[in-house]
Amino acid sequence: MRSGSPDALRLQRQRKAGTAADRVTETHSTAPIHPGRPHPPPATPGLNQWPSTAGGWRPAGTVTTLRGNDERTDMEHRYLGNSGLKISEIIYGNWLTHGSQVEDDLATKCVHAALEEGITTFDTADVYANTAAETVLGKALKGQRRESLEILTKVYWPTGPQGPNDCGLSRKHIMESINGSLKRLRTDYVDVYQAHRYDTETPLWETMLAFADVVHSGKALYIGVSEWTADQLREGHRLATEMGIQLISSQPQYSALWRVIEAEVIPTSQQLGVSQIVWSPMAQGVLTGKYLPGQPAPKGSRATDTKGGAQMIKRWMRDDLLERVQGLRPIAEDLGLTMGQLAIAWVLQHPNVAGAIVGATRPAQIKENVGATGVRIPAELMQRIDEVLGDVVERDPRKTWENAPQQRPC
Ligand SMILES: NC(=O)c1ccc[n+]([C@@H]2O[C@H](COP(=O)([O-])OP(=O)(O)OC[C@H]3O[C@@H](n4cnc5c(N)ncnc54)[C@H](OP(=O)(O)O)[C@@H]3O)[C@@H](O)[C@H]2O)c1
Repeated sequence: MRSGSPDALRLQRQRKAGTAADRVTETHSTAPIHPGRPHPPPATPGLNQWPSTAGGWRPAGTVTTLRGNDERTDMEHRYLGNSGLKISEIIYGNWLTHGSQVEDDLATKCVHAALEEGITTFDTADVYANTAAETVLGKALKGQRRESLEILTKVYWPTGPQGPNDCGLSRKHIMESINGSLKRLRTDYVDVYQAHRYDTETPLWETMLAFADVVHSGKALYIGVSEWTADQLREGHRLATEMGIQLISSQPQYSALWRVIEAEVIPTSQQLGVSQIVWSPMAQGVLTGKYLPGQPAPKGSRATDTKGGAQMIKRWMRDDLLERVQGLRPIAEDLGLTMGQLAIAWVLQHPNVAGAIVGATRPAQIKENVGATGVRIPAELMQRIDEVLGDVVERDPRKTWENAPQQRPC
């Protein structure tokens, strides 16, 4: 059987528990992080899996969704970090789309398509479309059973009139922002409340105490961070544990083109029992192969979105890079995947990645993208992807710090 043949692929779609566990055992260190301090809490031998599974995703089973036409979608779920929370390995996110590029009706159709395809986890932020994205998502999810959803939002970037306290991770802004998010999302709590960046101007202790109060008041169940360095993660995790809350996720950019978290953030997260839920796994659509070198961008695509998308994607719109991406087409074809599915499946191969946060401007994209769930890319094809992309891949771990705001944006 050829490694990329449909039969081989079907085999690779089967449950991945063995492989992932093996890989985690290889990389996980059981050495105490701060000698003398029980951090995180010690495992109860024979009762739970920690620490042997810490830092690697644990498969949490498959949810089969029966669509109207009797077609079935099998969406894999994974545990988030060293917690009992399951998320769908494909997450739907609404940056640049809801409340902006995409009209509200179409946004609602996208959310419903995601639910139909077995996606249960939704990622948003107060800052997306200056709070409108949360409003659109809240409306689109109205009537859904809350217990069947995992809703993630974030705080840090400026919202509203941008007064001196309308951003950052001060106690004041966190407390005000969570209330606004809950109202817009029409829910009593979010599953994971995430620090959208590190605030260099607020003592970390103040931030984590405010997060602890948010959790202890029932407005959020868990805490996550986004684009924090390894050192920031370690210290935030230590304080969270001391305050009796769980910091379980890190939300960095990660794709076959942007691998800066591999050297430091991922090994630290593996030690701490924190998972990655990664953004722009398709490099904002570039890895779908639809942008051709030397050609104008397709109409209606992010690269033509004058409300913000074109500005955001422009870092990827280089002919040398777009040419390399076209070189991935035969690999996707070998696997019987579209290029977008290959890009999503690629991030999901990493044992520390619990979910790929995927954006979409229409339901058809979601229906296509969920085809990446459960796919296992053989090692030799992972190697070929590295060879094809070559030096257009960014790997410098300093980029996490360099790309982060050095001071508060308000
Ligand atoms: N924490 C952070 O700082 C941060 C930053 C950015 C994003 N995020 C999160 O990550 C999520 C995803 O980011 P992203 O939207 O950049 O991710 P992405 O999945 O890499 O790109 C999504 C975009 O690609 C295009 N696309 C999607 N599926 C396609 C398909 N099958 N064929 C062709 N084009 C397709 C769509 O844009 P067009 O149709 O317009 O071309 C879509 O909006 C966000 O919504 C947000 O939740 C977090």
